[in-house]
Amino acid sequence: MLHSKLPQVGTTIFTRMSALATETGALNLSQGFPDFNPPQRLAQALGEHALAGNNQYAPMAGLPRLREAVAAQLLRHRRVDVDPETEVTIVPGATEGIFCAIQAVVRPGDEVVVLDPVYDSYEPAIELAGGRAIHVPLDTDFAIDWQRISEAVTPRTRVLMLNSPHNPSGSVITRNDLDELASLVERHDLLVCSDEVYEYLVFDGAEHCSVLSHPVLRERSFAHYSFGKTFSVTGWKTGYCVASPRLTEEFRKVHQYVTYVAVTPVQHALADFMHEDPDYPLSLAASYQRRRDYFLGALGESRFTWKPASGSYFQLLDYSAITDDVDLQLCERWTREHGVASIPVSYFYAEPPEQKLLRFCFAKSDEVLLQAAERLCAIPS
Ligand SMILES: Cc1ncc(COP(=O)(O)O)c(C=O)c1O
Repeated sequence: MLHSKLPQVGTTIFTRMSALATETGALNLSQGFPDFNPPQRLAQALGEHALAGNNQYAPMAGLPRLREAVAAQLLRHRRVDVDPETEVTIVPGATEGIFCAIQAVVRPGDEVVVLDPVYDSYEPAIELAGGRAIHVPLDTDFAIDWQRISEAVTPRTRVLMLNSPHNPSGSVITRNDLDELASLVERHDLLVCSDEVYEYLVFDGAEHCSVLSHPVLRERSFAHYSFGKTFSVTGWKTGYCVASPRLTEEFRKVHQYVTYVAVTPVQHALADFMHEDPDYPLSLAASYQRRRDYFLGALGESRFTWKPASGSYFQLLDYSAITDDVDLQLCERWTREHGVASIPVSYFYAEPPEQKLLRFCFAKSDEVLLQAAERLCAIPS
């Protein structure tokens, strides 16, 4: 008979809340996707390439011209020098990249440190590799507690999962965090799987601290990125993984049998656009920071409290001055009764702490953000 390999896993909260938003006609600030179009030239290029006949399998590691564009972007924006041939792999979404990296290096019995609140795709991938996720909570400000992590490391620990800018909290790591991480991974001979899909969404003048910019971490990390987040095309499901040649070789062994390749005309369109407008991603921080501030400004009269997100396109709101309700039920109730869908933050924890937080995606038009804020302001106690 069938014995589920993932007995704890059901349909993700994102799917459930988005479905509820559609069913009830609520404003959907739950799932992380923009409600506006990508740059027009990018969408046009996709159509052109499909019509021009670029519709068959790309090379397994990705189109060379897109890998070259990725390497050029890393050099231009991060001063990181990578070889597109041996260190960049185009994947059908960062989710697939993260899955493949974990399958490539985690063996049965290995432990993988994850930091709670944790993005929900990591643990199933670890379990399918036969590994065990060791949950270490971030501190109350969602900063990393390196002492706690160091205490959680055992001789079986193989990988540490990192995510900055962080979903769901919107926190970002610092250079000091990179140094702490580097000394930990050297001390215990660990690898790092670094989820940097929101790399360009860092606010208030802060810098994105990539593992690729640190000499020790550069050799020991898989860094994951999503064109979906950077170019507002989450439905195109295309991203890339950057890692040293040794790690990339193992990564590709898995990737070639999970999906083999990413979608060809999408890769051509992205390569064209990155070539034509290489600095487009640099415009994102200001534009998303403005959306964040617009949303928070419109919530000024509400009884929610918050710390403005430092990165990502998610804003946490603390509702403890409004109700004592548990966030999971509250989310559903407010979607039905007040017409705004969000995500309960307890969903991202193995052991949720005593806190009353909901996650709202502000990658939305001003009109939607204003309406959502008005509805949230009108919620009675
Ligand atoms: C932290 C994080 N990692 C990975 C992903 C997945 O990216 P992709 O759509 O490229 O698979 C998301 C998407 O929401 C995310 O928030």
